[in-house]
Amino acid sequence: MRSHYCGQLNETMVDQTITLCGWVHRRRDHGGVIFLDMRDREGVAQVVVDPDTAEAFATADRARSEYVLRIQGRVRLRPEGTQNPGMPTGLIEVLAKDVEVLNSAATPPFQLDEHGKVGEEIRLKHRYIDLRRPEMIDKLRLRSRISHSVRGYLEAEGFLDIETPILTRATPEGARDYLVPSRTHAGSFFALPQSPQLFKQILMVSGFDRYYQIAKCFRDEDLRADRQPEFTQIDIEASFVEEQDIMSITEGMIRQLFSDVLNVDLPEFGRMPYSEAMNRFGSDKPDMRIPLELTDVDDLMKGVDFKVFSGPANAEDGRVAALKVKGGASLSRKEIDEYTKFVGIYGARGLAWIKVNDRSAGLEGLQSPIVKFMEGVIEELLDRVGAEDGDIIFFGADKANIVNEAIGALRVKLGEDLNLYTAEWAPLWVVDFPMFEHDGTRLQALHHPFTAPSCDLETLKANPEAALSRAYDMVLNGTELGGGSIRIHDQAMQQSVLELLGIGEEEANEKFGFLLDALQYGAPPHGGLAFGLDRLVMLMSGARTIREVIAFPKTQSAACLMTDAPGDVRPEQLKELNIRLRQKVKAEGDKEETAGH
Ligand code: AMO
Ligand code: AMP
Repeated sequence: MRSHYCGQLNETMVDQTITLCGWVHRRRDHGGVIFLDMRDREGVAQVVVDPDTAEAFATADRARSEYVLRIQGRVRLRPEGTQNPGMPTGLIEVLAKDVEVLNSAATPPFQLDEHGKVGEEIRLKHRYIDLRRPEMIDKLRLRSRISHSVRGYLEAEGFLDIETPILTRATPEGARDYLVPSRTHAGSFFALPQSPQLFKQILMVSGFDRYYQIAKCFRDEDLRADRQPEFTQIDIEASFVEEQDIMSITEGMIRQLFSDVLNVDLPEFGRMPYSEAMNRFGSDKPDMRIPLELTDVDDLMKGVDFKVFSGPANAEDGRVAALKVKGGASLSRKEIDEYTKFVGIYGARGLAWIKVNDRSAGLEGLQSPIVKFMEGVIEELLDRVGAEDGDIIFFGADKANIVNEAIGALRVKLGEDLNLYTAEWAPLWVVDFPMFEHDGTRLQALHHPFTAPSCDLETLKANPEAALSRAYDMVLNGTELGGGSIRIHDQAMQQSVLELLGIGEEEANEKFGFLLDALQYGAPPHGGLAFGLDRLVMLMSGARTIREVIAFPKTQSAACLMTDAPGDVRPEQLKELNIRLRQKVKAEGDKEETAGH
């Protein structure tokens, strides 16, 4: 139906007769001449409809926003003074000969260029209109280019794209499962995969050697800006490999991707042990663009006459950390109060600070609610953090995990607020994760239970909490882009790790007996990694949430506003599935009351 996309027209086509198909972006009546900005996937072109072409003019006259038109006309240069160099098609326009309405449109719930005025809810409900916005099209186009580049790289490296099931058993990645009732096995349920983890390991046992998949994963967990219940992984696994192999293959992939798609040559990927990341940045995914660091001051605070500090300084699980911000003495009282509120979100009970106005003036040159307690240690403290006139030092004192979370988050917030970034892209590998963490009652796998320890079985059993794992995370600008590990390929080791996690033989067999079985039949050493594709696209497109880079995302409460999913089902369907709801389904339309949501 068309000869060109609107956005493709340019001055080389002057005098050509062309046909466009698209939507009316804007219609303007200029004293007898009608201007139609026609839009399609590739951009916008200006069409002029002259009263001389009476039929075309009459049609253009009744066209409204978002009508679908087919326009035949001649490309011509815009008259002097009306050119728009800011627009790719800004030097030309199309003089219409023929205008045909392919479809009319009801008045849209919002104008595309006024989307900011309506809430995200309206945009998600009418996602088909929201997706017409050029920014949305650009993001999804970028997403397509990203998967294309990734596939190209992995195919060239000999990885085979193999699909794994969506209707499957629970895979333990630490979130709640989405369950699907089985009709043919009354009372039994499939789980949607939290990741293809077990299947990709089994593919290694089968000898496929190198596998990848751009795979949908499902996790019923609390949602945040970088989490969706349904998201996409670039999932990778290979046999006869060690950490170094997987890290260099995937680093090569990301490097090529950034070069292909953004024309960016990523800097060196640093490598940092987990413990160092927690100590220096309070996070296992530190944003290395920000030149602020946490400094331990426990030893200095053990004897001070300020319980808030001496308590955690003397406690085994406590931490007192300082965060020096260069030039931060200019922060106002109000701003400091805001930051105190901010760290409160992470459980911090306060935010002590010292402003260094004039170091040469001793205590007099310092401004702080706590400096009176610091007399004996202040000089050493200031030296340790490298304080200079004009700086501010913040302090967190509490259980180490609270201090790390709160001051780690404060570090990121200050970096953003004060625009302290020293680089555009800061990639990092975090390595040497602990095998387990204690959640108060029992051990939990830090990555997942199939991750190999760095030590032998004896050492692991003797002191599981001290054991490190062969896991690695790729972090970019403070976002965990991907994570993976070398796996356990020895059945005895796998069984022991499950036991340490409190999963007995019976439960292990019931949950992943198939993996334990497979490990007996010649499992090669293997390992892999999975990237979050949505997060990758979010970072590369500069989007603020992953909802912006997913065509049909879900809301904070895990619902789709456009399709109104999850929805009710008919009583017969439930009966077929042998399911009875605990609350009786009320009259149709009485949705809020319906159980089973
Ligand atoms: P992991 O659980 O770390 O590892 O997930 C890998 C990557 O997937 C992304 N991701 C998410 N993205 C959006 N929404 C979510 N809810 C979400 N959850 C995770 C993150 C994360 O780094 N099977 C292992 C990988 C392996 O060991 O090979 C796994 O799934 O970017
Ligand atoms: P207070 O003695 O409660 O008035 O607190 C003195 C200063 O210490 C205030 O600036 C508080 O914000 C700060 N403060 C209180 N509790 C903590 C904490 N756990 N960590 C860091 N600073 C704190």
